[in-house]
Amino acid sequence: MNLRVLSDPSGLADAAADEIARWLAADDAPIGLSGGSTPVTTYERLTRREVRWHGVAAWMTDERHVPLDHPDSNAGAAGRALFDSVPATLHAVPWDESAHAAAIAYESTLLQILPGDALGPEPGLVMLGLGDDGHTASLFPGSSALEEDERWFVATDVAGKGWRLTATLGLLARARRTLFLVTGEHKAEVVAEIMSGGSDLPAAVVARHSRDPVWLLDRAAASRLD
Ligand code: 6PG
Repeated sequence: MNLRVLSDPSGLADAAADEIARWLAADDAPIGLSGGSTPVTTYERLTRREVRWHGVAAWMTDERHVPLDHPDSNAGAAGRALFDSVPATLHAVPWDESAHAAAIAYESTLLQILPGDALGPEPGLVMLGLGDDGHTASLFPGSSALEEDERWFVATDVAGKGWRLTATLGLLARARRTLFLVTGEHKAEVVAEIMSGGSDLPAAVVARHSRDPVWLLDRAAASRLD
């Protein structure tokens, strides 16, 4: 298990920005971006890294079914923090159609922009967050999206959160590197459960199936680890 503990959210954001900048210097596959609030500081720190942004492309590992200018939009947040100020391309998930139609449309975009082989798309670096219930992307505990074994990107109606659009386990598992960014004491218990091994929480299942999972934790999120 590749795990690094950083002092605090700022230290984690710097470490993540360094890791992503290094990856972009060596690999030109589009990078998968996490939603949520944790990665926003990392996106901001990337504006201060030496990255050749021309030609860089990015996609969303999950999205809420809202317009880009909606405060809940993950692509909107990534745009304001980074992509509005660099000459890179952020492929946003369509929102102006049904959630299922948007997922189908975005899946075909991913099939066009991502490298792959006969088995399907093969993302390069993918960033993910972790919810305190063990979800990652928009793969929530008990979600039927976890059982999806043909599609790469689907719509899922999440109780209490509305329609979400998410990469499936199948797509996330094919990433060449998966960077989990987790901060905060409120994540410490779920982090400890996942690191103990044998957990069936969605993030644990994604990590177990990932080719090169790397966990970046701040000290608070790692506070329940031995
Ligand atoms: C989303 C995310 C989700 C997120 C976790 C952690 O759309 O909300 O993709 O999986 O990464 O919920 O969110 P925070 O970083 O805000 O704690």
